[in-house]
Amino acid sequence: MAPRPAGSVAPAPPCRGRQDPNPFTAIKILSRLLACAALAACAARAQKFEGLAPTPPMGWNTWNTFGVNCSEALVKQTADAMVANGMRDAGYTYIVIDDAWSARERDSAGNLVADPVKFPGGMKALAAYLHGKGLKFGLYGCAGSMTCAGYPGGRGHEFQDARTYASWDVDYLKYDWCHRGTANGPETYRIMSDALRAAGRPIVFSLCEWGENKPWLWAAPVAHLWRTTGDIDPRYERFRQILDAQVGLEKYAGPGHWNDPDMLEVGNRGLTLAESRAHFSLWCMLAAPLVAGNDVRQMAPAIRDILTSRDVIAIDQDPLGHQGFRYRFGKDTEIWAKELSNKEWAVCVLNTGDIRSSVEIDWGSLTFLTEAYYRVSDVWASTRAGSNSSEAWTGMVDSHDVALFRLKPGY
Ligand code: GLA
Repeated sequence: MAPRPAGSVAPAPPCRGRQDPNPFTAIKILSRLLACAALAACAARAQKFEGLAPTPPMGWNTWNTFGVNCSEALVKQTADAMVANGMRDAGYTYIVIDDAWSARERDSAGNLVADPVKFPGGMKALAAYLHGKGLKFGLYGCAGSMTCAGYPGGRGHEFQDARTYASWDVDYLKYDWCHRGTANGPETYRIMSDALRAAGRPIVFSLCEWGENKPWLWAAPVAHLWRTTGDIDPRYERFRQILDAQVGLEKYAGPGHWNDPDMLEVGNRGLTLAESRAHFSLWCMLAAPLVAGNDVRQMAPAIRDILTSRDVIAIDQDPLGHQGFRYRFGKDTEIWAKELSNKEWAVCVLNTGDIRSSVEIDWGSLTFLTEAYYRVSDVWASTRAGSNSSEAWTGMVDSHDVALFRLKPGY
């Protein structure tokens, strides 16, 4: 191709970058341009409802404690408890009914129906009950032909189901990945996202494909949160595995689109109190959705205090929306850091060793800090913990427990 003279303006290329040899085919070019514009508009069109999850969603879900034994009575009692114990006011608003809420079969028109024994009043009335308490209503569905527990799946029914959810005043949909055959992950979740949009009710869309298709790379236009791993269970080892799997994912999270390392096991048998505190603190450092999974109707005061700790929740819910990162990884300690708004930082030290140990943090050695002076507070102890210019922090940390700090610029 001959070089263009300096200063000349290149003719606008037709869509596929090929010059049309016939200068009189303007109509052809115009129609190609229009087709290109339509395609671009299609690719760029808004998928999900924006503005629904500026900070990580918070709530409670039936699965971790109750499995398939969800019911209207359980949901109402939980809602009442969350109002009474301060969880709602601490920010836990979504009550999500997980797998096994539906009847075993769709009705003759192919609609999902609530199990009439577990949910005798129906889902719309339950939504009204929750909304009346200042809570929101979440349901579970599955992208495959059946849910993981063998109830009707959404495959081929996406638009119909989205209309059903909208008609029941659902606010949040968790969408699972069992029995999906050869379905393509991104395409399948896009269909459900389109269906929710077409149904017209703003619904938080929570992807649950266990990180299999690296949703952090493609799900932000489609969903508000996406699971990054397989299921959590109430063991310290599992919580550590999931924590490890979050390393490097921090750049993909932000307001409206969150990595989801799975629901909380805080307070569930299998974790010590220290492990529950560590799990909660680190989920807050990760800007994770905080979805409690214990029986909040009868939890110990110490567990309630963890779940409702406002200063810790504030780290999770910080409006900057940065997910924390693992800063240091030693034999018996890990240090995690999370940037907060107004140049503040949260720093969390996890004692991964088997014994209670003395830990020292020299604030001046934290290379991510940008300001000369910080006021440091110990978030769980609610005390001042020194300043980064003068004193290091030294304290005892139990095995599998954390020390959690907030650093604020200034003396
Ligand atoms: C999958 C999900 C869990 C839960 C169950 C229900 O395992 O990852 O969170 O929803 O299905 O069957």
